[in-house]
Amino acid sequence: MDKAIEIKNLTKSFKNVPVLKGINLDVERGTILALLGPNGAGKTTTVRILSTLIQPDGGEVFINGYNAVKNPNSVRASIGLTGQYAAVDEYLSGYENLVMLGRLYHLNYADAKKRATELLEQFDLVEAGGRIAKTYSGGMRRRLDLALSLIATPPILFLDEPTTGLDPRSRLAMWAIIEQLVQAKTTVLLTTQYLEEADKLANSIAVLHNGTIIAQGTANELKDKVGKERLEITIAEGHNFKQAVSAINGQAISSDEKKRLISIATSGAVSEIKRVISLMENHNIEIEALSLHKPTLDDVFLNLTGHKTTKESEEE
Ligand SMILES: Nc1ncnc2c1ncn2[C@@H]1O[C@H](COP(=O)(O)OP(=O)(O)OP(=O)(O)O)[C@@H](O)[C@H]1O
Ligand SMILES: [Mg+2]
Repeated sequence: MDKAIEIKNLTKSFKNVPVLKGINLDVERGTILALLGPNGAGKTTTVRILSTLIQPDGGEVFINGYNAVKNPNSVRASIGLTGQYAAVDEYLSGYENLVMLGRLYHLNYADAKKRATELLEQFDLVEAGGRIAKTYSGGMRRRLDLALSLIATPPILFLDEPTTGLDPRSRLAMWAIIEQLVQAKTTVLLTTQYLEEADKLANSIAVLHNGTIIAQGTANELKDKVGKERLEITIAEGHNFKQAVSAINGQAISSDEKKRLISIATSGAVSEIKRVISLMENHNIEIEALSLHKPTLDDVFLNLTGHKTTKESEEE
């Protein structure tokens, strides 16, 4: 594996309170890793160490092959960073923000202007580009922030909660941009509280909890840990619900008489679904609706940590 990011036994405490208790993680070049965890899990702390903004207490971090403690300048030349709290100069226009940062990255003036124009187009900010950033909506700021992190076309990009506070449309736009970046071989480490985001974007997901990685794998691998698929049938009004439950004969995971809903564990095979249908037919019980569910990442997270995620409280 060609590792763009390598984390070995990383530890960090703040005032003797351990936040990271020995993290090991590798990210293969050209892939997306999602670091998932509840508030205070240490996601931002990890990203800040990887991007050389703070020093670890112990362990080793290699970014693009460079040691983050010994060669921070080489690491900085390899990365782009979008923070949880956007680093935009409010009194410059979007265009000026981009050109200024381009100059800081040693682009000549003509190249900085060219790159700024490209990025404004890519992030659908052409019309807003001339206005000072103070007048931007939250979603526009987020897009400008991401554009800023891409000025120098870094091979590795850290995105700390890139879609927090975005509306569904802007979130989709952001996902499309992140997918394009990875197609262009950028390596992305993103943190998120949105399980569906990790599911949609990431090649690999690491769940951070209580200072350690408690699970890692693809979305499907994590779901497999929780269990198989679940078949849900709704029994039509006027049909005998209790009889339906007993006909399923112990295979029901749960039943809800009020909603007339029965959940049944299944491998998802068509033959198993057919069997349930004919079982009900044999008892003259009508099925009103039928659906098949894979466990969601929410199920996974709950199962692994006993915590609900807190995305509802994460308003900007
Ligand atoms: N500079 C600091 N000084 C003291 N404690 C800190 C500092 N930075 C972070 N912490 C603590 O470390 C823990 C992890 O914080 P961190 O910001 O990394 O969490 P997070 O996973 O990014 O959470 P969120 O989802 O809320 O962004 C928290 O308990 C936080 O209070
Ligand atoms: Mg954070």
